[in-house]
Amino acid sequence: MAEIIVVTSGKGGVGKTTSSASLASGLARRGKKVAVIDFDVGLRNLDLIMGCERRVVYDFVNVVNGEASLKQAMIKDKRFDTLYVLAASQTRDKDALSREGVERVLKELSDDGFDYIVCDSPAGIEKGAFLAMYFADTAVVVVNPEVSSVRDSDRIIGLLQSKTRRAENGERVAEHLLLTRYSPARVETGEMLSIADVEEVLGLKTIGVIPESSDVLNASNKGEPVILDMESSAGQAYDDAVARILGETRPMRFTQTEKKGFFSKLFGG
Ligand SMILES: Nc1ncnc2c1ncn2[C@@H]1O[C@H](COP(=O)(O)OP(=O)(O)O)[C@@H](O)[C@H]1O
Ligand SMILES: [Mg+2]
Repeated sequence: MAEIIVVTSGKGGVGKTTSSASLASGLARRGKKVAVIDFDVGLRNLDLIMGCERRVVYDFVNVVNGEASLKQAMIKDKRFDTLYVLAASQTRDKDALSREGVERVLKELSDDGFDYIVCDSPAGIEKGAFLAMYFADTAVVVVNPEVSSVRDSDRIIGLLQSKTRRAENGERVAEHLLLTRYSPARVETGEMLSIADVEEVLGLKTIGVIPESSDVLNASNKGEPVILDMESSAGQAYDDAVARILGETRPMRFTQTEKKGFFSKLFGG
């Protein structure tokens, strides 16, 4: 059985697609068979971040509507043999996905031996976001450490606990907090909420803290998920998050401002 992971958030632009691409790539790098699906119908973003936009012929909506087979629509990643992308459609019809259609696709992937299906959700509470979370076993709730992002995430957590298949069956979706665009300096000055603050407000445990980093934009411009850039702090932080998803314990990194050492304090370096 594939584990279905939804990457979701209340607000848009917090880093869901960036995170979906990196988590999926990181899981594949560790030998897992992974499909990553763009549920953001009308926007098509994931294929750009994954660097496969020119290969898109058929998309998720085509498969749901029976216009193409899953095999025809799945794009094999250039870097990892066990990673596949299912792109979103550019149709304007936000209702193009149906629950039955999504269920059929997820079941076919699971039957095909995929270990993980990563669902990149659109923001908010529209149908696409609802369908992306409905079948999830695990949710990665992406939050920026700001009041508005945290507040909107609370709404999503409510839906995860009530409007999913697991909730309907009296089970729970495992929920994890992924803090992105974290800036320790801005936490210190009080402009941003701390990890502990966000955990407390949302009642979730942190699976990863991704620092604010210009490497993220560089990576997406190149069509390479930032997790492949192991020189970058964001890449390393995503790698830690993947390890934790797989059950490893790793200390949080990049969460403190760099403390000046004794000598640099002395000499004002
Ligand atoms: N850790 C980060 N540091 C800097 N910029 C980031 C980071 N994560 C995401 N971004 C930027 O934020 C914007 C929104 O990211 P995206 O993944 O598309 O969000 P969403 O899918 O939630 O709308 C993009 O421009 C992306 O490059
Ligand atoms: Mg997105």
